[in-house]
Parts: sequence; C-alpha cells; structure tokens
Amino acid sequence: MGRGSGFGKTILFNEHFVVHGVPGIVSAIDSAADAEVKKNGKGIAVEDTRKGAKGYAEKKRIQQKESIERMLKALNIDPEKVTMRIWLGGNLPGFSGIGASAASSVAIARAMADEFRMDLPDERINEIAYEAEKAYAGTPSGIDNTAATFGGLIWFKRNLSGGPNTIERLSIREPVEIVIGNTGIVANTKAMVAGVGERKKKFPEKYNALFKQAEELAFTARKALEEFDLRKVGKLMNENHRLLQEIEVSCKELDHLVNLAREQGAFGAKLTGGGGGGCMVALTPRKELQEAVATAMEQQGFKVLRTKIGIQKL
Ligand code: MEV
Repeated sequence: MGRGSGFGKTILFNEHFVVHGVPGIVSAIDSAADAEVKKNGKGIAVEDTRKGAKGYAEKKRIQQKESIERMLKALNIDPEKVTMRIWLGGNLPGFSGIGASAASSVAIARAMADEFRMDLPDERINEIAYEAEKAYAGTPSGIDNTAATFGGLIWFKRNLSGGPNTIERLSIREPVEIVIGNTGIVANTKAMVAGVGERKKKFPEKYNALFKQAEELAFTARKALEEFDLRKVGKLMNENHRLLQEIEVSCKELDHLVNLAREQGAFGAKLTGGGGGGCMVALTPRKELQEAVATAMEQQGFKVLRTKIGIQKL
C-alpha cells in the first residue's frame, strides 16, 4: 500500500490576484490530509473519511474524480485500465478555503507514487498536484499545491508565460496563532476564479487599479512579516480584505466573521482562499487572543480551526 500527506494552508495575502501574476503569501498550517492507495478492486474507488463541512465531499466528488484522472495521466497511467482503492483522511477538515483539495491531491500523488514504486522529488509531486488543481479551480495559480507540497511560509508569484513560478521560503521569528473561521458554505472555487477573470476583462480600469494596489501590498506585507511587525501585518490583512471585497469575492457571512474577529481584538482579519463562502483567517497572536476570537465564533455556531502560521514542519 502507498501512503502520502499534504499540508493544509491559509493564504495570508492576495488570493485571486495571484492567479493573474500578482505575488501572494501563503502559510501551511499544522493540519494535513493523508492518503493511502492500493492497486486492486474494480475501477477507481475513493473512500473519503475527512471530517468537515456537511456536503463538502459530495459537492466536490465530480471534481475529485477528474482530479484523480488528471494525476494518473500526468504519471503516464491510463485511468481506464488501472484499478485502485484510495482512502482519504487526516486532521485537515474538508472546509473550503484551507487548501483541502490541494492537500488531498498532494497526499494522493505521493501515495500513488509510493504504490507504483516511483521515486518522485517534491518538485514533480507539485507539478502533478497542479494538474489535479485544474479540476477544482479551472485556471489555478499553483499557490495551493505549492503550499501543500512544501509547507512553511511561502512567497509565490505565478509565471504567466508558462515558465517556473517564483517560490521563495519566508521565515518569521516564531509561529503566530491564527483562527480560521468557516462560514459553512461550500464554495465553488472554479466559478469564483472565472468570475474575477470575467470582471477584470469587463472593467479593466477599475481592476487594473485594484491589482496594482494588491501588488504593492504584497511587498509591504512581506517586509512586515519578516520584521515581525504583527500589528502592521494585521492592518495589511484588513486592507487586503477590502480589495477582495472590491473584486466581489467576499460575501456577507465572510464579512460577518471578519468583523466579529476584529471586534474581539484580532490584529487583522480577511477571507482566505476562493471566497464566496468557505473560510476567513484572523491574526491572533498569543493563546488568550486566539481563544477569545475562536470562542466568539463558536458561540454563534461557526466551526473554527485554532492553528498557527510560520510552522516549518508538522
Ligand atoms: C484558492 O485557494 C486560491 C485562488 O487564488 C485560486 C488559485 O490561486 O489557484 C482563489
């Protein structure tokens, strides 16, 4: 039997903008998807045991099937001829926005490589998982599979001419507590990404100005993170949320959780991932602040994840 894992992630800056070549900053979190693959049975059977938003697995099933076929093709295996059983689990819940699809693709790619006795470097696993991401996100930037493969805190810039993306490891003084709040809405990343692309074409002046602001913000945020100026990082997250609202990827449930986190003293808060539902992230240094923000959300019936950014390894 082959085994593999992939990290969950939170995008701290510039989801969506990153699809169009603007730099983004992503951090792996201390939860992962695990996969086991065994060559036998009939056709390709998937047993998804991940905990999560009600309906997540059902809603993503068709995209998941396509993603597995894409990975097999990338490995030169004919999906029509292979028979295998895939088991998915791990402690990363199936929430939208925390890289559940990318983490599962990386986990499955590693488990398949293990089962088929292929010794693949992480760079190749990342490429295979990127193929899988196309099923979930349409035209993905590659930021999610990169975080799921390599972990840590990453500066990512997509190369729009097809060459290698810029992937730089960032380091911060120590890991910082965050809260990830889940609206409970299973979002369709593919539709959200396509929507931004369409509006960008339709309103070039408005969108070009917003994309310029997002680009500048990424550089300021990188500096603030490296200097460990967490108040500034939080302010920039708030600013990033405003830009994401302007490109119409937030929703009232995300805005509600973002406001709630700020009222409870979070240094900053923003949506994270594809938006349109899914999750938000709040910067909450120290356990007490993290607990206050997480509890306030739970008291209103939202599911949360208490985790950290800047963790290098699980
Ligand atoms: C989704 O986690 C992040 C998006 O920017 C899509 C992508 O970059 O592939 C919305």
